[in-house]
Parts: sequence; structure tokens; C-alpha cells
Amino acid sequence: MQDYHEFLDEILIDATTLQERISELGVEISQDYKDKDLHLICILRGGILFLTDLMRQISIPHTIDFMAISSYGVGDRESSGQVRLTMDLRDPIKGRNVLLVEDIVDSGYTLASVLGLLGTRKPASLKVCTLLDKAERRETEVPIDYVGFVIPNKYVFGYGLDLDEFYRELPFIGVVNEEKYTPPDH
Ligand code: PRP
Repeated sequence: MQDYHEFLDEILIDATTLQERISELGVEISQDYKDKDLHLICILRGGILFLTDLMRQISIPHTIDFMAISSYGVGDRESSGQVRLTMDLRDPIKGRNVLLVEDIVDSGYTLASVLGLLGTRKPASLKVCTLLDKAERRETEVPIDYVGFVIPNKYVFGYGLDLDEFYRELPFIGVVNEEKYTPPDH
């Protein structure tokens, strides 16, 4: 497995900047959901680092749940426009104030599908918080209520975002030099 230093082009968002912004988001969300039963839903896997840091910055009581989806056409770097539910939520969301927590919105297809699915379960409210917004790549319009950073169309990794399932643990968002990156052979 390559050391990430070999293919890191630049650090797009460093760890301190990430944590400062997440702290701001936590304050904003805590104010907006004061006196409401906030229920955070993380879409696996990319959103887990963001969720766990964000929830520690939210000062009101809240609950969490997880769901997993898979794009049709596994192995593609880009969404195909359709997603499949591979792991459902544990708890019902009817009547609850749901905030979806995502690591990145790119084409918007994933979010559009998930919002469509969860909307049928009649939550009291359904909003979206994404750490990263690759706005210029959007192919379908999706409502986003909280955005950490709008980023350029670069191939990014770290802080939950993987390269062939690795490097999610890194505390920063990096940009890949694709000429220097070698995918694992398994
Ligand atoms: C990423 C990310 C979003 C989706 C965004 O997930 O977590 O769910 O892609 O892309 P879109 O806006 O073009 O649909 P990915 O499929 O890479 O899975 P992962 O979270 O397990 O890494």
C-alpha cells in the first residue's frame, strides 16, 4: 500500500480548518434544532468521520442512525444516477426531525435518491448537511441546508473519503495526483 505522501498533490483543507468549520456547523445546528428531537442519519461509509466530529460539536441532545447505499455500477468513480439500499436504518423516522449527514455531494444523484426514499417515511422535517459540496459537478438539483466547504472539481480523499477504500482515516482533505497514485491490486 502506497504512503499517501507519494501521490498527495496538495492538502485542500487541513485538519484545523476542518475542525473549526465543523464546530461552526455544530453551533448553527444546535441553535436551529433547539427544542426539537434532532435525529442525525449518516450515509455510510464516507460520512462517519464527519458525523462523529459533528455530533461532538452539537450541544443539544440528539440521536443517530446509519444507512448504506450502493451505486449501480460498482467500481465507478462517478455515480450512475441510481442507488440501491444495502443497509436500512434501525429506527423509524416518522414524525422525527431528520438531518442527513454526508461527506460529499457531487452529481447529487445519491442525495436525490436518499431524500426520495426517506421522504416517503414521513419525517417531521428532512434536511441535509454535507461537509463538501462539489457544486460545479451537480447534475440534479438537490436541497442542501448546511455546507462545510464548496470545493473545486478535484479528485479528493481523506477524512472519510476513500481511494479504493483506503485512506479514509486521514484527518485532512487531500488532492490526488492521479499519475502518481497506484490502485491496490486486490
Ligand atoms: C460518495 C459520497 C456520497 C456520494 C456523492 O459515496 O459519500 O454518498 O458519493 O456522489 P453523488 O453526488 O455523485 O451521488 P461513495 O459512493 O463513494 O461511497 P462511500 O461513502 O462508501 O465512500
